[in-house]
Amino acid sequence: MSSISKLAVIGLGLIGGSLAKALKINGFAGNITGYDLSFEDALRGVQLGIVDEAVATLSEAVEGAEIIIVATPVRSLSSVFSELVEFLPKTAVLTDVGSVKGEVVKAAQMALGDQIGQFVPGHPIAGSEKSGVSAADETLFQHHRVILTPLERNDPEQVELVRRMWECAGAEVIEMAIRHHDEVLAATSHLPHLIAFSLVDTLAGEDDNKEIFKYAAGGFRDFTRIAASDPVMWRDIFLSNRDAVLKVLGHFSEGLSKLQKAIETGDEMTLSGVFTRAKSAREHFSKILELKSYTTMTNQNVTFTVRPGGSVQGDIRVPGDKSISHRSIMLGSLSEGITEIDGFLEGEDALATLQSFRDMGVVIEGPEKGHVTVHGVGMQGLKKAPGTLYVGNSGTSMRLLAGLLAAQDFESEMIGDESLSKRPMERVAVPLRLMGAQVETGDGGRPPLRCGGGQALQGIKYEMPMASAQVKSCVLLAGMYAEGETVVTEPAPTRDHTERMLRGFGYPVSRVGDEIKVVGGGKLTATKIDVPADISSAAFFMVAASITPGADLLLRHVGINPTRTGVIDILKLMGADITLSNEREVGGEPVADIRVRYAPLKGIHIPEALVPLAIDEFPVLFIAATCAEGTTVLSGAEELRVKESDRIQVMADGLSALGVQTLVKDDGIEITGQTIAGGEVESHGDHRIAMSFSVAALRSEGEVTIRNCANVATSFPNFVELANEVGLSINVVAD
Ligand code: S3P
Repeated sequence: MSSISKLAVIGLGLIGGSLAKALKINGFAGNITGYDLSFEDALRGVQLGIVDEAVATLSEAVEGAEIIIVATPVRSLSSVFSELVEFLPKTAVLTDVGSVKGEVVKAAQMALGDQIGQFVPGHPIAGSEKSGVSAADETLFQHHRVILTPLERNDPEQVELVRRMWECAGAEVIEMAIRHHDEVLAATSHLPHLIAFSLVDTLAGEDDNKEIFKYAAGGFRDFTRIAASDPVMWRDIFLSNRDAVLKVLGHFSEGLSKLQKAIETGDEMTLSGVFTRAKSAREHFSKILELKSYTTMTNQNVTFTVRPGGSVQGDIRVPGDKSISHRSIMLGSLSEGITEIDGFLEGEDALATLQSFRDMGVVIEGPEKGHVTVHGVGMQGLKKAPGTLYVGNSGTSMRLLAGLLAAQDFESEMIGDESLSKRPMERVAVPLRLMGAQVETGDGGRPPLRCGGGQALQGIKYEMPMASAQVKSCVLLAGMYAEGETVVTEPAPTRDHTERMLRGFGYPVSRVGDEIKVVGGGKLTATKIDVPADISSAAFFMVAASITPGADLLLRHVGINPTRTGVIDILKLMGADITLSNEREVGGEPVADIRVRYAPLKGIHIPEALVPLAIDEFPVLFIAATCAEGTTVLSGAEELRVKESDRIQVMADGLSALGVQTLVKDDGIEITGQTIAGGEVESHGDHRIAMSFSVAALRSEGEVTIRNCANVATSFPNFVELANEVGLSINVVAD
């Protein structure tokens, strides 16, 4: 841009004026000449310091200009181009700001003839309901996109120049094909304007229009703000982007008629379906675009700084069990009737499962303070999702869903965030293929995971090569759709929530020794589910209390399913003081209140049989081992290397950063009790690593800083709040 000595803006309205103003303020040193049909407006531009000079004719404006921006309404472009072609300097680049590109390019071709290569079509995705040069705003394009739709005959250097001009005004520049641009804009900008104009006009024509406008509060105001936009500009846009607008308007009209009919016939399901899907859609799509884990998080990175020391006292309930929350949505969706869920984990992983079923047409209300209502569609009632299913950080969603999707009569594809995209998926693809399903994974057997539709599945007998509840569940879920018996053998007991919940929904599952069996062709009947607090989340506090002198903590309503209580057994073997009370069964799952008091810990050899029963709790158990006297030895735990991060290596690296030396092995680690100095740790976006090192600070000498902690929200959204309530001191810094 520094080489440009003259830039001409033709049409000094909101967009032309704002661009000129932004360029000036951001240091463009050349001359900016303004031309407008209204010379008065051009002069006003000079008075406001937006342009250097106002001229009365087009020829004066373009003379000697290196960049010419035509910022007039789209339908005037044809005549502006025809008029200026006569004076267009051979080396100048010409660009526009029109919201429609197809018609504009056609008009430019007609008018410019051989000089068409000088025209680089552009469109800033920014605007305001205000118009005119007085409304010019230098921040209008900041952090907004500008779409260029370059022509084959453009000189790449000239395209680059237009790009740099917009970047100088603060915009992010992207390129798109003309047709694609017009379709995207028809849907995202043109249609909403049309609806706003129509709504205001319709209401203004009602007999009691004054009343309507008098009492129309926030909703009407927000929704119709854009109806105050420039009518000429918008008339032109609709006439110029006719086909794309008519296509999307047709879809919208169908949607509106569907709602009209639902209201007439009192069809609650259709109304709830549309509203619940729409409510979550905006957030959902923005997460997919960013390939971040699921909802609620900000885009910012999050660092925890944890003050050393602290106490652990109190009486708390940690959020709902993640594994059970996932399964409650899956089975509730496939059941007949309405399933009411309480205690649902409103963490991003479980929300990813919930969104996937919404995408497949299931009406799900909530979550609202842990309550979710699922309107089951029956075993055959899922519909093809409109696009790819996005499951964020959640391995459980992808692996369990694979079993269900493989059996549907439609095709589907699942993708996830950066961490999930590195995790092994062949472990579920292999048995599903043996059942006759068509399943594809990406490079190295990782996501995306694609399931072809319409395959008849056969029951199989599958001996799992690893102790994985996710693989077991995937095969059992597919088994409900398969012909005959499906039998899964596990090398060691793994969590059995799928089996328990299937029985709760009235689907028979039998277990003999290490073999679990379902017979295909059954059905699920809706039920009520009370999700206990997650023992994996409680584990952070069990270790926190065990290592902190004077600690005394009560954890309420924790799930103590025997396939999950490895962490209690291991801590007790290390000498922890843990007592269970108020033991009861809730909806097929045992729960208890757990009291943990400080007790000096000692190192142990962790029995390998306990590994699958404490698989998610090892990161925090490594902290317990660091605070114990003597050496703790873990083996048979290679599965830890394929979790949200390589949890053996990442914990060893983090401990080392805090001054703690460990001995890493392929399938485990040896940790000898020693002092934790403090320092800075990288969590690699793994929620359990981030929380474990927060707990470590209770016994560190210096502060512990933990990077990349946003994903704590995947399993434990209120971790920091609860931790600080019991006596830790975690400060959250968003950077
Ligand atoms: C889970 C099973 C475990 C566990 C994960 C949840 C489940 O994974 O690590 O957090 O809900 O079935 P694997 O089955 O891969 O061990």
